[in-house]
Amino acid sequence: MTIDLANPDLYTTDARFEMWEEYIRSDAKVWSDPGISPSGFWSVFSHRDVSAVLSPKAPFTSEYGMMIGFDAEHADHSGGRMLVVSEGNWHSVLKRLIGPFLSRLRAPELRSVLHEEVREIVERLRSQETTDIALTVGPRLPAAIVCEVIGVPLSERERLIQLTNHAFGGEESSFDKMTPAEAHTEILFYFHELIERRQKEPGTDLVSALLADGRLSTEDVLINCDNVLIGGNETTRHSITGAFHAFQAFPGALDTLRADPELADRAVEEVVRWTSPAAHVLRVATEDCEIGGQQIREGQAVVAWLAAANRDERLFAHPHRFVVDRAPNRHLGFGTGPHHCLGAALARLELKELLTQLAAEAKAVEPREEVRWMRSNLVQGYSGLEVSMRWR
Ligand code: HEM
Repeated sequence: MTIDLANPDLYTTDARFEMWEEYIRSDAKVWSDPGISPSGFWSVFSHRDVSAVLSPKAPFTSEYGMMIGFDAEHADHSGGRMLVVSEGNWHSVLKRLIGPFLSRLRAPELRSVLHEEVREIVERLRSQETTDIALTVGPRLPAAIVCEVIGVPLSERERLIQLTNHAFGGEESSFDKMTPAEAHTEILFYFHELIERRQKEPGTDLVSALLADGRLSTEDVLINCDNVLIGGNETTRHSITGAFHAFQAFPGALDTLRADPELADRAVEEVVRWTSPAAHVLRVATEDCEIGGQQIREGQAVVAWLAAANRDERLFAHPHRFVVDRAPNRHLGFGTGPHHCLGAALARLELKELLTQLAAEAKAVEPREEVRWMRSNLVQGYSGLEVSMRWR
């Protein structure tokens, strides 16, 4: 019997961890027949197999799509134009243009924005008896940072943050009676307007830089802003929420971090490993090849389950434990190879600011309800995490 690993219901309970554990142990390569994902796909789970698929030398491409849903008859229409689904020369062009806006070099200017945002989050948490972290805390920082990167003027920021929260909040969030898809479309309309404004009046932001280069059409600028929007929001919000989940599930971690704030960088890496919000990435074989003994035919898709590889006990002792000072920690949460997350430095900055302030002020995170997982095969994340905070 084959299992359709595209089925989002598989990922709404902790049972997925046991499923992955068995697959890793037996070094499984699993074929999912065409179904939810129209062309079917292979799946790999172990750290070794996932790394092999994503290695720069492996004969795989993202240009037909990079997630489950891949349809050989109808390839991703952004393929070859949007950073994450481009390869070769165009991928390098986009990386060189977008990279500086997401790099560590922006840390000094972004740090003060982040500091203030986290302060507000802590104040809000202090004023509430219980809080749903997934709905009200997780989304805030990533949305604010993406606005900063793209160059959304301050006066328009709050609405965009609200729209972003809703666009990526799953079925349960609500804003202005819009569905998440409508909120996303609204953001794209806004970006379009922003592009027109920057064409007349350039600034020092990402939109202006993409326009000034001269090689990107208006639509190319739009879809690459969308890439940054999605990349920055869909993932980081769940790592932020997951940090609270980790402190709730492993109470000692907060004390360890408070006792030694120097551990913050390691704690950030462990949050990304333990939460692994990018559950998978997909690649299509450009020639017949072999992964861990399994023949893959040219044109077939392979799904690399990053979230599974990050629980591979051959790399991570007690993989299900959140070990705040875990070292080494060769996690694949940000992917690996040519498409390694371009926003990793920003994500780390966001998480470090949050963890530092939380460790300094919070005594404990206590659960109020069962964790509610998102119904998604792509994003390993939370639709609800209701907690009470205890302060020092
Ligand atoms: C790519 C994860 C935060 C922007 C990726 C990839 C992963 C990932 C796994 C590789 C995709 C692939 O191989 O096909 C994460 C996680 C984050 C995070 C877990 C937070 C914890 C961010 C942020 C931004 C961002 C904050 C921007 C503000 C991007 C972009 C790419 C990317 C632009 C495409 C890179 C390329 O194709 O060369 N991310 N990401 N990400 N991410 Fe992130």
